[in-house]
Order: sequence, then C-alpha cells, then structure tokens
Amino acid sequence: MKLKGVDIKPYYRLDEWEIIEDSFNLEKNFHSETIFTVGNGFIGIRGTFEEGLDNEAKLGAEGTFLNGVYEEGTIKYGEIAYGFPEKSQTMINAANGKKIMLYLEDEIFSMQTGTVLNYKRSINMREGILRRSLIWQSPKGKQIQLETERFVCLQRKNLAAVKYKVTPVNFDGRIIIVSEIDGDIKESLDEKDPRIGSGLEEGALYTIDTMAEADTAALLQRTRKTEITVACVTKGIMRTQCPVGTDKFISQDRVGFVYNVAGQKGKAINYIKYLVYEASSGGRNSIMDHANKVLDSALKLGYDGLAKEQHEFLNNYWYRSDIEIKGDIALQQAIRFNLFHLLQSVGRDGKTNICAKGLTGEGYEGHYFWDTEMYVIPSFLYNNPDISRKLLEYRYSTLDKARARAREMSHQKGALFPWRTINGEECSGYFPAGTAQYHINADIAYAIKKYMEVTQDDSFLISCGAEILFETARLWADIGFFNTGKGGKFCINCVTGPDEYTAIVNNNFYTNIMAKENLEFAYNTAVWMKREHRMEYERLTDEICLEPEEISLWKSAADNMYLPYSEKHGIHMQDDTFLDKELWDFENVPKENYPLLLHYHPLVIYRHQVCKQADVVLALFLLGHKFSLEEKRRDYDYYEKVTTHDSSLSACIFSIVANDIGYHEEAYDYFIKTARMDLDDYQGNTHHGVHTANMAGSWMCIVNGFAGMRVHDDVLSFQPYIHPGWEELR
Ligand code: BGC
Repeated sequence: MKLKGVDIKPYYRLDEWEIIEDSFNLEKNFHSETIFTVGNGFIGIRGTFEEGLDNEAKLGAEGTFLNGVYEEGTIKYGEIAYGFPEKSQTMINAANGKKIMLYLEDEIFSMQTGTVLNYKRSINMREGILRRSLIWQSPKGKQIQLETERFVCLQRKNLAAVKYKVTPVNFDGRIIIVSEIDGDIKESLDEKDPRIGSGLEEGALYTIDTMAEADTAALLQRTRKTEITVACVTKGIMRTQCPVGTDKFISQDRVGFVYNVAGQKGKAINYIKYLVYEASSGGRNSIMDHANKVLDSALKLGYDGLAKEQHEFLNNYWYRSDIEIKGDIALQQAIRFNLFHLLQSVGRDGKTNICAKGLTGEGYEGHYFWDTEMYVIPSFLYNNPDISRKLLEYRYSTLDKARARAREMSHQKGALFPWRTINGEECSGYFPAGTAQYHINADIAYAIKKYMEVTQDDSFLISCGAEILFETARLWADIGFFNTGKGGKFCINCVTGPDEYTAIVNNNFYTNIMAKENLEFAYNTAVWMKREHRMEYERLTDEICLEPEEISLWKSAADNMYLPYSEKHGIHMQDDTFLDKELWDFENVPKENYPLLLHYHPLVIYRHQVCKQADVVLALFLLGHKFSLEEKRRDYDYYEKVTTHDSSLSACIFSIVANDIGYHEEAYDYFIKTARMDLDDYQGNTHHGVHTANMAGSWMCIVNGFAGMRVHDDVLSFQPYIHPGWEELR
C-alpha cells in the first residue's frame, strides 16, 4: 500500500475482521497493548499479558481504566493568576484483576525468557474477544501450550472474563497458577509531554479492605481526595483432571489464590476468572452486594454464554454500523478497527463521556474534550443515536459547573463549558490552548442541532437541549460586542480557535461562524418552544431568568457576526492577524522537529503562520452550504500549505473537504492516514492510547467524504465518489 508514494508496511496481519500479531516483538509491545485493549465504555483493560512483563515501565504499561473514575491533584503553577483551575483530574489506573502467574516447578513463565513458539495474539471484532496462543519452552526444556482469552462484556457494565488454559506438552510435574488482584499500580507521567499528563503525586488509591473466601477474592480501594471506592471482585473456577491444592493469600494491596497442580503431560488445566469492577461513593456493603449480583448472573450464563451474548451484541452493532470497503483489505480492517474501538470506549450511561484516548491508555489523563461533540457524536448519530443522546446528557449534567465557570471568568450570564474535564470542572492548566477555546460552547450547540436533525427528539430539546442552547448563547452575547471599529459588526476577542498553534486572537473565523450558528439555533429554539410548548418555555425562562431582550440580542448578534475575510488573498482569514504573521519555514525545519509542540516554545509557534490542525477548513466542512466551491478551494489551498497536522484531529477533515472540492487523490491520502493512524502508529504515540476523535473522523471521511453525505435544511444529500482502487463502498 502506498501513502503519498511511500510504501506502508502494516505490522498486523491484514484481515477483514481481525487484528492479528503473528510474532511477539518486545519493541512493538507497548503499542500492541493499546491496540489489543478490550473495553465496554466503563471498563477498559489494556492488552497486557496476564503474567505481565519485567521492566514494564519501558516495555509497556499495565492499565485497567474505569471511565469517569478519577482522582484530583493540585495543579502547580510557577505563577498563578486569577481563575486558573487549581485541581487536576486524572483517570485512575485501577487494580489489575486479570493477573495470572504461572510456574513450572521452579521456573516462572514469561514471554521474555525461554523460547516462544507458534505465537499468535489477535482480536476478533465480530466476537469482541482477545486471544493469545503459544507454545513455550522453559530455559530448562519444559514445554507447555498456553491459550488465553479475555473480554469485557459490552452488555454488562461491570463485568469482564478471562479464560486461561495451560497444557504440559512434554512433562509431568508441579504447575503453580497464582491468580491475583494486584492493587499496587502507579499512574504514568511525563513532565515533558503535555499529551500524557502530570500524573499524581502519590498513588491514587489506597486499600481499605481485602477478602479471599472459597473461590472469591475482593480488593477494595479508595481514592484519596475524590473519595470514590473502587472494588475489584473476582471469582475463579478451576477445571482439570489433575489433582489440585488451593491456598489463598492476602497482603497489603494484593489478594488471590495459589493453585498447586500435579500436572500431567497432555492434560489441560482450565481456569476461568470472572472480574467485576465497581466504583461508587456509596458504602462497602452496597458495592459488594452489587458485585455479588453481577457475579451470580455471570455464573448462571457461564463463560460460553457470556461469549455468545457478546457476539450477539456485536452482530447488532455491526448490522447498524458496519462500513464495507470492497477491494481494499487494509482500509477495510482499519475502518472496522476504529468503529470497534469507539464502541469499546464510549460511555453509554449519561454520566460518563469518551476520553480522548478511550479507555486504552493514560494519554490526556482520561479527559473529555470537544472531540466528543465534533467527531464522536456524529459517528454514532446516524447508527446509534441513543449513544449520542447519552453523551449530550452528560454535558447537560455538568451545566451548573459550566455556569459557575462562566461567573469565575467574569461573565454575568451564561455558561462556559470546560476545555478538558472529567467531572465537568475545567482542569486545563494552560489557558491559551485550554480555557481560551471558547468554541467548545458552540460545538456542543452544533451537536445538539445535528442530534435534533436526525432524531426530532423534542423531549430532549425541551428537557436538556434548550437550556444548554440558551446558556451558551448568553455567553456569546456577553463575551462579544458590536464593534464600531469594524462597522458595528459583532466581534469576539481574545479566544483560541481549534488550531492550537495560534492562540488568543480576535475574531477567530471558526469561533465566530460557529457562535453565529449557536446564537441562531438558540433564538429559533426559543421561538419554537414559546409557540409549541409554552408552559415548559415559561418554566425554563423563569428558572434561568431569561429576558426577551436577551433573545432578541442573540438574533442581532448572529445577523451581524463579523467573519474575517481577506480581499487581497480571496480567502477567509483564520483570525484578524493570522495573515500578517511570518510564514513558517517548512522547507528548512527538519522532520524530527515535528510535532512542533515538543520542540518550540509556544511563542515561537504563535508568531508564525502555521496550523496544528484544521480550523477554517473545519468550518468549510461543517457549514459547507455557506461557501461556494471556489471559496472552498481557495481556503483549502491556502491552509493546506500551512498545516502540520500535528493534531490527530486534522487529517480527516482535510480528507472530507478535499473530496468535496474534487481533490480526490489528496482525500484518499489523508484518509489512509486517518484510517490507519493507530494501527500503523502514524502519530508515534499510540502506546499512550488510541485517538478516538480521529477514529470517528475516519467514519466521517467515508460517510461525509467519499459518500459526500450532508444534511442541510432537513434535506439529505449525497455526492459520492468511489476511489478507483475500491470495488464497492457500502
Ligand atoms: C488537539 C485538540 C484535541 C486534543 C485531544 C489536541 O492535540 O489539538 O483539538 O481536543 O488534542 O484530542
């Protein structure tokens, strides 16, 4: 496969429905652990081996993540200023409940010693099960065959299951299996890379209780500051014809069982481990009661029953969501991989959202961004609208915090949603590329509009959507002003647009045009609600003290919104001063200096015309009906030359717009980059987690890009283009 003329060598075997690793490669392990993560939107378990690795910090990272379960820390600033967030939020890395160690007499099984033969690790995306099989020859010559399986139940929020089968190939002798819950896990940190996280000063969790009885083990831990109790409860079932003795052990942060098996050549030892993860601010007893109920119902179905349920759940998902690209197996595999990970990552309970890295790694500390509204929600909207609604419900549940943040930012009215968050409070420590991205408000409003377009779910609009729209519109009315210096147009100053390589500017084109949409939609919703649902309208306007003059102001602000345009260049200006800056020296800056954010002080970057990601170009896609083909081409041509795509959110948008304007080869190249970004590690940081916005972007590339789907004014339209290398796109 070629990408811009360069041969791409996929590391995983190409297959339509599976991701397969045919040989174990320590250097690729960190990356593979992310790729082979299994999850269900609440629990995410990295593809680490049951027995782990030595020197994990370098070769990989153990990871069990629970969506929305986080610990707070103190953000340390050299020079603090008013309104800086003081508390960090970090998704915790919970106890490793899948851990299983294996001993053959006095030798411990490890992928790093002895000889590994017939190795295969794979995940089947129709079944949702991760598998590993191999033959291992110990340094002293003992051979075993090992087969492991694991999945996190997509239909049962708190449950995961592991199947472990070991068969001695050439010996009789003692085999010890140690199955434990290991609660001694540390979060990673990288002080030099803002995309990873500042980490927590001390371990996030401390143990409050341990228990091992019959075949059930439990470890209860609590976060220090947020006081969330996190329980891991396991039940192990051993089946073998060989004699077995069982012992239990309990230490400070670990608990489990030791199975002492008199192994016999050719006789399998089968072990099944059910894992329950619970997190709650409730008491110990209620947590344990719930965990036991989950275990009981799991046992009733048994491992095979649960696996069948998983398969059926996925059949339904693929029936609704699958994308078929016939004639290109690498892209077929990639698009399914992306859709699979989105499902595994997305919170579906209305209380949680989707982390930028899903539940696959510690990158971005488990934070939720605008990625949700502009990328992930659209990818679910047309096949699983309920999931999109749940994501919007999450935003609604944080509206009070957004109102409080707006007051802190000196806005008398309205709500300002956080740039990065888990609990709804702003936790971005770098305001130029954080809080200053006010466009998040308009992004949320835009997602509500799209959701309504598809579902006509008036009950949502009345109960949640309208209030968000009114409060976000109020914020625009408050931050902007009719500027006599710009012909009385409505201007918005001192904000940052999507492009994080240009910060704190006046009249960011994207922000202004999206704020205009937000204001218009809020106005129209107010008019509609007053007419059609008067009682609810009055109740809401009373509750939030909304005056009729405010609503009229939204209309005139929208009608008079300032949208910067350069007559000289014939393009939309990214902001008032973007075109006055010196061009970035693309020719002479060496490749190793990208991403620029890791090699230049922000001021150096801000001084230049250089974009990290789509900004004006994103508006060309989202509000495409507002631009002529010629305008789109001129804007695209200009901004394409100055964009590094250092953000993973960029390539997909360029692909969509390139298709729209007839640059199909470019669209295809950008699509390959998008679709296979994590499988082939184009950003070089997939080991810290997948890029969920980009994954959703690959869906958009197909549906909005190649199929050219648009919805405008309640009209659905298509402008399909099929790449010559593809037989069919469905
Ligand atoms: C991008 C943001 C994005 C964040 C999380 C950053 O690199 O510039 O737009 O929200 O990553 O994905």
